[in-house]
Amino acid sequence: MFPYKTSFILQRNQGSPLYLQLANQFIELIKSHKLPPKTKLPSSRKLSELLEVHRKTVVACYEELLLQGWIESVPKKGTYIKATLPILQQQEFLEEEDVQSTCANFSFEKRAILERKTYETEEDWVVLDDGISDVRLTPLEDIARTYRRLSTKRSTINALTYGSTMGNYKLRSVLADYLNETRGLQCCEQNILITRGSQMGLFLSSKLLLQEDDIVVVGETNYIAADVSFLERKAQLIRVPVDENGLDTCKIEELCKKQTIKAVFVTSHHHHPTTVTLSAERRIHLLNLAKEYQFAIIEDDYDYDFNYNHAPILPLASHDTHGNVIYIGSFCKTVAPVFRIGYLIAPKEFVDEAAKARRYIDRQGDALLELVFVDFLKSGDLDRHIKKILKEYQSRRDLFCQLLKEELGTYFEFEIPKGGMAVWTKLNQKYSWDEVSQIARKHKLEIGDWQRYDYENIGHNAIRIGFASMNEIEIQRLIKRLKTTMQELDINEHN
Ligand SMILES: Cc1ncc(COP(=O)(O)O)c(C=O)c1O
Repeated sequence: MFPYKTSFILQRNQGSPLYLQLANQFIELIKSHKLPPKTKLPSSRKLSELLEVHRKTVVACYEELLLQGWIESVPKKGTYIKATLPILQQQEFLEEEDVQSTCANFSFEKRAILERKTYETEEDWVVLDDGISDVRLTPLEDIARTYRRLSTKRSTINALTYGSTMGNYKLRSVLADYLNETRGLQCCEQNILITRGSQMGLFLSSKLLLQEDDIVVVGETNYIAADVSFLERKAQLIRVPVDENGLDTCKIEELCKKQTIKAVFVTSHHHHPTTVTLSAERRIHLLNLAKEYQFAIIEDDYDYDFNYNHAPILPLASHDTHGNVIYIGSFCKTVAPVFRIGYLIAPKEFVDEAAKARRYIDRQGDALLELVFVDFLKSGDLDRHIKKILKEYQSRRDLFCQLLKEELGTYFEFEIPKGGMAVWTKLNQKYSWDEVSQIARKHKLEIGDWQRYDYENIGHNAIRIGFASMNEIEIQRLIKRLKTTMQELDINEHN
């Protein structure tokens, strides 16, 4: 007979009721074929004696197994493992647990282009980022308080069901006023699709605009996730130089004369990665070209709120009178990356279509969070938060740049960025980031994927180093480790 007594381990006070523990262990035995189909099970009285549990426990377990279809009861004969269990055909597969959890037994497309490097670090490591906010400064208390207050409001119930794929109407309307006032746009709620961050805006724009082999113009250095989004659509990227005035629009004009351009991607406020601002002249030039050659300008205004030396420069979208600009932004940098609220602003017919496409990847946004942001914008809390972090990030930028110059000026060249959250840091051509990152790891400093800044191998030898996420002590620690790294590199060179 099957060794029932030794095959089950039942734990009282474990949280899960005994009958369920017993049923689940039965299921495992059935799946692994240790209890094959047609096996007769002991009566409930007998099994309860063997396992020293109450008979009701075994009865409840058998009822559960019956309900789930693992066993069957044959009148006047007893209880049996069900004779026809299709799952038993997978027995060999299930035994190889590793195989099951890693390998799919069906074919699907794997795209090398989506590959991202990951790095293992420990808590006491310094890890460079490319310019992200300091989440410790997130106004979490305010957000949580508003969330709690709204959750208890009767009218909020309406937001719990399936809603518009466009996003909450109130947020679209408040956002339209906010952006018109602060960024000189002339939009209304019909021009706004609430997204889950800028990346979704980029994804949807690429999906709607691009077919295989369509041409998208991007900078010679560019935000890599934008490149990947376009390449995902099998579009062709044509790169134009980026100098201290941003994208070279004369080169774009030359291209337009020769071929059909579908879109130009621009991070006009602070070019990603080099942080330069697209000059006024080039802004107008680009808008005129878009009008004449009828291409879309995808304007990714990822860090509009962060200006230290001057008033923010108005986006291209604010001067667009012909319906060429798709303006993308989010609160993910300003508040915290975890709050996935962004926006795509464009002519109504484009927004309508983007909202239709969105349904099939994300039925709708987080309507409750969207309501919280209505409050956040209307109450002035967002403006107060921006003022607070701006001051903090400015002093971090100043400290970082000062130390980088004083301590590491012989190794690195950079311009103090007028805004944003990162410094475009050029390493002296004598050295390579490959060597630097290898030695840095010995000193618990992770440089990260430096190659992604030079997708085209032009050899500029620069990377973005984010300063906003680090406080004073952390900036000092980073500089110290970077200095130790560079000094070790020098010693190695001399030996
Ligand atoms: C240039 C640029 N665009 C878009 C994004 C994506 O931002 P979000 O978190 O709003 O999706 C980032 C994030 O780092 C970025 O740097």
